[in-house]
Amino acid sequence: MDNIESAIQPRRPMKRQSTAIEAELLKLGNTIVTKFHVLMRISQIYDSKNTALQQFVQESLQTINQWIKMEGVLSILVDNELFLNGERLRYSVEGFTSFKYLLTQLRKRRIGEVVFKGPADETTLKEFIYGLMSLEDGNEKNAELLSESLASHGITSIEVNPLEVMEGEEDAITYYLVDQQKVAQKVFFETIGTIKEVITNIKGKQHADVRKLKRLAQKAVNLIVEDESILLGMATIKNYDEYTFNHSVNVTIYSLAIGKRLGFTRKIMTELGITALLHDIGKSKIPREILNKPGPLDEGEWGMMKKHPLLGVEVALNLKQLGEINPRMVVGIFDHHLNNDLSGYPKLFRKKELSLFGRIIQIADAYDAMTSARIYKKSPYTPEQSLAIMLREKVVHFDPILLKILIGVVGIYPIGSLVLLNTHEVGIVYKPNPDQKWIDRPRVILVERHEKKDVKKELIDLTETDGPNHFKRTIIKTLDPNKYHVDIAKYFLAS
Ligand SMILES: [Fe+2]
Ligand SMILES: [Fe+2]
Repeated sequence: MDNIESAIQPRRPMKRQSTAIEAELLKLGNTIVTKFHVLMRISQIYDSKNTALQQFVQESLQTINQWIKMEGVLSILVDNELFLNGERLRYSVEGFTSFKYLLTQLRKRRIGEVVFKGPADETTLKEFIYGLMSLEDGNEKNAELLSESLASHGITSIEVNPLEVMEGEEDAITYYLVDQQKVAQKVFFETIGTIKEVITNIKGKQHADVRKLKRLAQKAVNLIVEDESILLGMATIKNYDEYTFNHSVNVTIYSLAIGKRLGFTRKIMTELGITALLHDIGKSKIPREILNKPGPLDEGEWGMMKKHPLLGVEVALNLKQLGEINPRMVVGIFDHHLNNDLSGYPKLFRKKELSLFGRIIQIADAYDAMTSARIYKKSPYTPEQSLAIMLREKVVHFDPILLKILIGVVGIYPIGSLVLLNTHEVGIVYKPNPDQKWIDRPRVILVERHEKKDVKKELIDLTETDGPNHFKRTIIKTLDPNKYHVDIAKYFLAS
């Protein structure tokens, strides 16, 4: 630490302390953070009776109580930074890992402040650490739950307060989001892998693991319910080589986002998820040469291709014997190319009502197909162009209400759109504005071109003003990422 004076920055006016005491407190503060880091880590490996833990608890108590002796209390406050007794803690280089760990762990559990109101003993510290680490991520009631659990052990000397996330204060939950992004990424790629496995097994007439697919659909439902923008961002990853698998997962993401807005229960959402994952399963029965033909299909080939919904039903009925598949799901697969006016395929002998699953999947399917590059269509439509085409064709092809919902899901500037701003900056739409009023002002990642490479500059909010009634930045138009050679997908992947 080079400059002690600048190392502790007062957050609010505090009593002046001598530099020597400040220096001692700074050192002690860093040690406390490191001790908490180690304690939290150990608690995840050993149970509370372990001897290695006992010894470390004693050492930690010495540091904590030394601080309390000097300062009366120990308050650890989480904001964008850590504050000890109201003063921002400047971490030392060696202390950075501990600092970041503590900040992330508390924030993730929605804990904003912990106050040790007097000297602590072994039981108090242990109960606190184990209680804290057992809290589930993201639960806003955690502070209350931890206080209650401490009180049930007769501990009243620790006060726990919740983390207050201000509306629009994105930075405060960045660490939490990075974690969420990693989870989403894992689910996304795991699902692609599983659907690939299921299709390969069906082709080889082997047993397909539908239960695994169900588990992944449930995880996807949880993510969509919590924060759909992360998965919607992932759906912009259009992996050209593995189109069928990637397409099935993307269709699932869009379908689930629509289902969420229709107020579906988690159970129905999971059923919708499995149906969407399997919607093109019939293609596993169609020869590769037809599926991957670069040129237009001849009449016979097209006739074969049009059989995939019906072949899908056959496959699904076979899977039905394994459980987890119900008639609603089978009908959804049958309906997904029928069109709103039933002019699509398969040809019907008698008019029927289109199922809701079929209608949802059809819209999600068309949107993903249009925004993806295919072997016969090297450059896809932009999200904006795709929505415009869909709106024009809505009477024939799509349920107008569901189409409106899809536009609500992806926004008028859909997630993943490349946009030009009035400041001549270029950005990528990252997240729609949660306020419907500002549907044209999403959150945008500014990108900068650096020696033929594009790099992330910053995440901005387009509702930001720089004077009365004057927005700092406004979208002028969308750009075609293929022309500008910007790799949109990489901005949605956690590093
Ligand atoms: Fe299809
Ligand atoms: Fe499809």
